Amino acid sequence: MLRFLTAGESHGKGLTVIIEGIPAGVRLDEDYIAKDLARRQVGYGRGGRMKIETDRAEILSGVRHGYTMGGPISLWIVNRDYSTGKGPDGKPWTEVMSTNPTETTFDTIQHLRPGHADTPGITKYMHDDARNILERSSARESTARVAAGAIAKRFLEEFDIDIHGHVTNIGGVFANPRYPINWKDLEKPPYSSENPKGSKMASVRCADEDAAEKMIASIDAARDEGDSLGGIIEIIATGVPIGIGDYIQWDQKLTSKIAAATMSINAVKGVELGIGFQQANMRGSKVHDVIKPLSEWKASQNKGWEQPFPRITNNSGGFEGGMSTGEPIIVRAVVKPIATIIDGLPTVNLATGEFVDKAHFERSDITFVPTCSIIGESMLALTLGECMLEKFGGDNIKETHRNYINYMKSIMPNK
Ligand SMILES: Cc1cc2nc3c(=O)[nH]c(=O)nc-3n(C[C@H](O)[C@H](O)[C@H](O)COP(=O)(O)O)c2cc1C
Repeated sequence: MLRFLTAGESHGKGLTVIIEGIPAGVRLDEDYIAKDLARRQVGYGRGGRMKIETDRAEILSGVRHGYTMGGPISLWIVNRDYSTGKGPDGKPWTEVMSTNPTETTFDTIQHLRPGHADTPGITKYMHDDARNILERSSARESTARVAAGAIAKRFLEEFDIDIHGHVTNIGGVFANPRYPINWKDLEKPPYSSENPKGSKMASVRCADEDAAEKMIASIDAARDEGDSLGGIIEIIATGVPIGIGDYIQWDQKLTSKIAAATMSINAVKGVELGIGFQQANMRGSKVHDVIKPLSEWKASQNKGWEQPFPRITNNSGGFEGGMSTGEPIIVRAVVKPIATIIDGLPTVNLATGEFVDKAHFERSDITFVPTCSIIGESMLALTLGECMLEKFGGDNIKETHRNYINYMKSIMPNK
């Protein structure tokens, strides 16, 4: 069983994550995890926090001499803002977020922020300072998920499973990328005001050059107008074998696990698999993915065995009956525009309930859709990792791999 748990506050000392269930013998080091943490920090429209933090996860346990040992892997990611930055009232974060009692006084958050966890959070937890909610509900937590996701990706690489995310819409600017996407285009040094020669496609993680240009213009316009933007991400996983997940119980479906994992990302408001909502407008004869005859299978795969029952189309996004079909897995998610508007939404005072014209402002991005595509990769990796281990088990990766190869070799119709 693969599971993980995160801890930590946005301006606290740092973030912790424990991931359990990765078999022994998987090659892993801090530099590998650092690559995804750096990818999470790229994105035109992100705010000042990204310049303060250069995230790096320190491996505290579960790994020895560059290989997993089979025990829980724990990671520690320092919040650099904590030791150097200033919080409300110019007081140091070390005081504002001190875990020990403190004599220092500072401003509390009373002007509740619509669109954030503040209002239901303070009501439910009976706090009188919305910072007690903001600090944990902040998407800073997603840094820990991306670190855990990198470990899941490393595990999945052992089975040639690749996961990539990109952006298909920011603020109503739709991309029309050519598939299969050249992922290297999105990993180039990104465009920014400090690097005007950088890649615009990489800075918004959009595989359509014209759309990337327009997305950047749209982000600039939103910034000038003190507003924010949302968008759509698409995550694609290739190499997932047929039959991962299950149809037997509702909570064993790969589809329901992926939808829940994707919906858990802050600000994600809807998830679509394959052609998703478009199906409402189509006839069944045009939707369902017809199976290629055996004579065409070998041409479509080249791994030493074939992924059986390949399809002519992949409208389902790689799922049938809650299980993988062996086709690429395609997950899309809509991300709402940022709730913290520079000009401030009207709200009420927590203590009095009286109207105030501006909600509390905490340093904020204009958009974070490109970053969501990296978090989406991580959540998909963690879910696929869990379901691969459910299917193939194994205390050591050699055992998992042996089970996987035996399965792949035995599932051809003539075996
Ligand atoms: C990577 C990332 C960065 C975010 N940055 C901000 C931000 O700067 N300002 C903001 O208002 N919301 C930001 N959000 C969104 C909030 O975290 C989120 O809307 C809030 O926690 C409420 O959750 P909900 O939208 O799921 O209801 C960010 C989300 C993600 C995934």
